[in-house]
Amino acid sequence: MTTENSSDLNSQFNSQGKSHEPVMLEEVAQCFTTVPPGVVVDATFGLGGHAKAILKANPSLQILGLDQDADAIANAERMIADDSSLHGRLTVRRVRFDSLSEVLEELSIKEISGALFDLGVSSPQLDIAERGFSYRNDGPLDMRMDQRGELSAADVVNSYQESELAGIITQNADERFARRIARAIVAARPIHTTTHLAEVIVAAIPAPARRTGGHPAKRTFQAIRIEVNKELEILARALQVAIDATKIGGRVAVLTYHSGENRIVKQVFRASEKDADEPKIGSPFVHESQLGTRRVRRVRMAQYPTEQEQTKNRRAKSARLRVIEKVPAGARGLGLKDGN
Ligand SMILES: C[S@@+](CC[C@H](N)C(=O)[O-])C[C@H]1O[C@@H](n2cnc3c(N)ncnc32)[C@H](O)[C@@H]1O
Repeated sequence: MTTENSSDLNSQFNSQGKSHEPVMLEEVAQCFTTVPPGVVVDATFGLGGHAKAILKANPSLQILGLDQDADAIANAERMIADDSSLHGRLTVRRVRFDSLSEVLEELSIKEISGALFDLGVSSPQLDIAERGFSYRNDGPLDMRMDQRGELSAADVVNSYQESELAGIITQNADERFARRIARAIVAARPIHTTTHLAEVIVAAIPAPARRTGGHPAKRTFQAIRIEVNKELEILARALQVAIDATKIGGRVAVLTYHSGENRIVKQVFRASEKDADEPKIGSPFVHESQLGTRRVRRVRMAQYPTEQEQTKNRRAKSARLRVIEKVPAGARGLGLKDGN
């Protein structure tokens, strides 16, 4: 659930009573039960639901939690202060995840046991109107995950040229009415609030199309948020750093929520597999011809949440979980395990 009234036991609450229900919690925690002891980086800590589940499922792990949002880190620090079982097992840093290599260096961590990227925004970010992420709650046009960021949604909406706006709405959200929406935004300037922007977008979309595919402003809000936070620009590099830092047997898991993220994760994972074939069910060994350059194997291609979870948790509907495992380059006769 994404509301503060969620009664689900998996939901994590912050000090403002806002909750976030982690997506595919069991599946994610399960991924890290077989990794070697050490540090797993939770690159998108949020309210720490996944991190806690990973720590519980594998007592040999510690978590290094990253988040660029001051509220998420303040909440994590309170969590650590209040729960002695987390002492020595959870460390957090307020950074954007493309600074991962600097943080590892600062903490003298040479190799990690894996990493988790649960991309996008958390429910508290959406639910708190002042953060300006939601077309449902009236707030200032902000959308910065890092409150120190220089670019806000108001800057994008009020200062980008029409063609730039149309470009980001198309590229970041596959919105087929991007040009009409961009034209309407420029005509309505200045726009200062989320609800005003939502009204302009809705009015720009032809009436029959408004009735399908969820809220008509959803994709444009997503596109502007991605632009404000440079979400797609930094993802490939951050994933690559995580894969490079992961030790043999360690895993990198990514939860994506839209096609732009899917494309990048698939590209990076494929490139890491180099010329090795994908694991084939029923074929327990990699053929010798596939060896030599292999660095990772795919553990999960693109797993969907169960239907039950999709019904219960709105955020889970579009989620895809992809997992890779680091394997020795040039290993001979490497056995491919199926499953988790
Ligand atoms: C979907 S939520 C993660 C929820 C978390 N897995 C949990 O169980 O509570 C995404 C979080 O990652 C943070 N985030 C998103 N992109 C980030 C980035 N590039 N660097 C650091 N934090 C990021 C957001 O601020 C948000 O708190």
